[in-house]
Amino acid sequence: MQAFDIEVVLGKSQVLNGVNFTAKPGEVTAIVGPNGSGKTTLLRAMTGEIPYSGKVLLNNKNVAGLKPWQLAALRGVQPQSTTIAFPFTVLEIVRLGLTAGLSAAEKELPLRALEKVGLTGFGNRMYQDLSGGEQQRVQLARVLTQIWRPVVDGAPRWLILDEPVASLDIGHQFTVMDLTRDFSARGGGVVAVMHDLNLTAMFADKVVLMDAGHIAAQGSPQSVLTDANLAQTYGCPLPVCTTPHDGTPFLLPQARHARVT
Ligand SMILES: Nc1ncnc2c1ncn2[C@@H]1O[C@H](COP(=O)(O)OP(=O)(O)OP(=O)(O)O)[C@@H](O)[C@H]1O
Ligand SMILES: [Mg+2]
Repeated sequence: MQAFDIEVVLGKSQVLNGVNFTAKPGEVTAIVGPNGSGKTTLLRAMTGEIPYSGKVLLNNKNVAGLKPWQLAALRGVQPQSTTIAFPFTVLEIVRLGLTAGLSAAEKELPLRALEKVGLTGFGNRMYQDLSGGEQQRVQLARVLTQIWRPVVDGAPRWLILDEPVASLDIGHQFTVMDLTRDFSARGGGVVAVMHDLNLTAMFADKVVLMDAGHIAAQGSPQSVLTDANLAQTYGCPLPVCTTPHDGTPFLLPQARHARVT
């Protein structure tokens, strides 16, 4: 997935100023950055939900020329928040991810997707009655149902997730991040907006750091999650540590007050 010179104007604000973005199949690409830096706007431009100038390629095809059903076959999108105004059951929501022409076995995908996100037995519950974290996992199950196989006819498919672990407890955060790694390990592409920099460092192959509508840094977690980049972008000086066994960066908020020698 590639985006070239993406500019977005919303209302009177220029929200993205010439963003160039690349995510590779077989990798988890995390987009991080402060509130309002343009992460959701970049995802919404790349998924064709809002007008933009520039060019977005998905598997080397210009998304502007793809029909909705062609896009739906290539990528599934979990938005930052979802409001369901009508009384649907969990299974009805997850079944929205089913596409036409499926085999009998594939029609079982919603139940398998619910199992993957730890919601076995929730199918007949009313969506509105679920907790925030349970609702978020239902939305992921819907996306997994739509994009179950990471590769179809040799072409990678894409999971595009806007803060998929924002409302989740730590156990389910790992469940979801493990799902993204599994999907990418089997050849699919994952693009996920994240706020948790420790999870990002543990699970992402590539990190894209956004700041005020542009990309401040992109590359490996080690190269992007540095003291200087984080202080500059978040305005929050904090020493970045690394794990002794493999050098993965991590942040200890307590270190903010520690004397660093
Ligand atoms: N419809 C709109 N009209 C005007 N400004 C908008 C509109 N939608 C978003 N914005 C502004 O665009 C900027 C980027 O918003 P965006 O939702 O992309 O941020 P974000 O990086 O996803 O932040 P968060 O971490 O809070 O989700 C914000 O300053 C926001 O106020
Ligand atoms: Mg956002």
